[in-house]
Amino acid sequence: MGQTPTADHLRNHLVDLIRRDVRLTAEVERVMRKVPREAFLPGIGLEEAYADQAVSIKDNPLGGPLPLSCASVPSVVAMMLGQLDVQPGDSILEIGAGTGYNAALLAELTGANGHVTSIDIDSDVALHARTMLDRAGYQQVHVMERDGLIGAPENAPYDRMLAAVGLWDVPATWWEQLSEGGRLVLPLRWRGQTRSVALIRHGDNLVSHGMQLCGFVPVIGQDGEKTTALNADDTIRVIHDEDQAVDAVALRESLSTTTGIEVMSEQRIGGEESFDGVWLRATAADDRVCRLQVLPEAMAQEPLLRPAMPVRSPALIDGDSLAYLIVRREGADPDRPHRLGAASYGPQAEKLAQDLIAHIEDWGSARTAVPRLTVTPISSDAVTGGGHVITKRESRLTLTY
Ligand SMILES: C[S@@+](CC[C@H](N)C(=O)[O-])C[C@H]1O[C@@H](n2cnc3c(N)ncnc32)[C@H](O)[C@@H]1O
Repeated sequence: MGQTPTADHLRNHLVDLIRRDVRLTAEVERVMRKVPREAFLPGIGLEEAYADQAVSIKDNPLGGPLPLSCASVPSVVAMMLGQLDVQPGDSILEIGAGTGYNAALLAELTGANGHVTSIDIDSDVALHARTMLDRAGYQQVHVMERDGLIGAPENAPYDRMLAAVGLWDVPATWWEQLSEGGRLVLPLRWRGQTRSVALIRHGDNLVSHGMQLCGFVPVIGQDGEKTTALNADDTIRVIHDEDQAVDAVALRESLSTTTGIEVMSEQRIGGEESFDGVWLRATAADDRVCRLQVLPEAMAQEPLLRPAMPVRSPALIDGDSLAYLIVRREGADPDRPHRLGAASYGPQAEKLAQDLIAHIEDWGSARTAVPRLTVTPISSDAVTGGGHVITKRESRLTLTY
């Protein structure tokens, strides 16, 4: 019988696995190999603590699939720490203390001359983080029970700010707390998708320095993202921003009474090839982009043309019509056996499908291109250099390719 692996062994193994997909700086790798994740997850088995998955510590009292609080997926934690680029001596604010694990990593990265403040809105969670950080030897981290949308002005300014929770908007208060040239990393939602964006402050503008697709529990206190049911069972939904009018009655009618059409693009992909950039690209040009979510029970019951990823596919909505991304297998090219296309329903199905195809082709002309995102407070008239503007409540997003 083999020996039971130790926590050190499992931790090193996990970091080895993460390194295959995420480029780690030497410092991030060092702290990921050092900080014991299991110390922040009491009662959880070692194997679970070192799987590359989120671990829930408090259920959502409102129900739903997402917990109120969890330790984030380790590979996502590592990716975001890379985006944050902490320097020794940095003063750091984390929004969403959760287990306290990420705050410990931040404390290691900034070192003895730096400072970490970590805040959580939930009193049980803040107490959990405080207790675990103390036990693991990170008494120097300042944990506060606080609404992160307000930030923590008492310890500001910060060189680095990290949100470990999904934001729909960038709160105006955060600009005042981030140093000039400082970095903010946050999972930001727009048009139904979430991207972890690294932003650097230049006066009133926060300018992106890369972004990665990710998923996160939503922050408590922002409700600009809406969910609209497109069938009676609420198993087909669109997730959209509040500035996008969705005519649920007309769309339900179109889905239930019209036959969908399929139009294919010229873009082929390999089995493992990512195509989430189609969504990102479309958001930089078109205000009708949102997320289609089809639950497994609907896939089994409804005669709906299969979306690219049933729970999470980019879609276009225009009045009574809907188009969404599809992937179909075609034998012609063995290296790239799949082709991207659009399925579409409603009176404008043909036109909307062609509009989605145009976004797919735009993506295909520069598949790995990443836009520049500039975030500006809504009250500011700072120049952003042009691009497609999405207006939120407290900020404006400008996307440029
Ligand atoms: C994914 S968890 C954070 C994981 C954590 N960084 C760790 O290392 O375990 C997200 C946390 O954000 C907190 N949260 C949600 N809304 C918040 C808000 N408005 N202000 C502060 N914290 C919030 C939740 O209570 C939850 O603990």
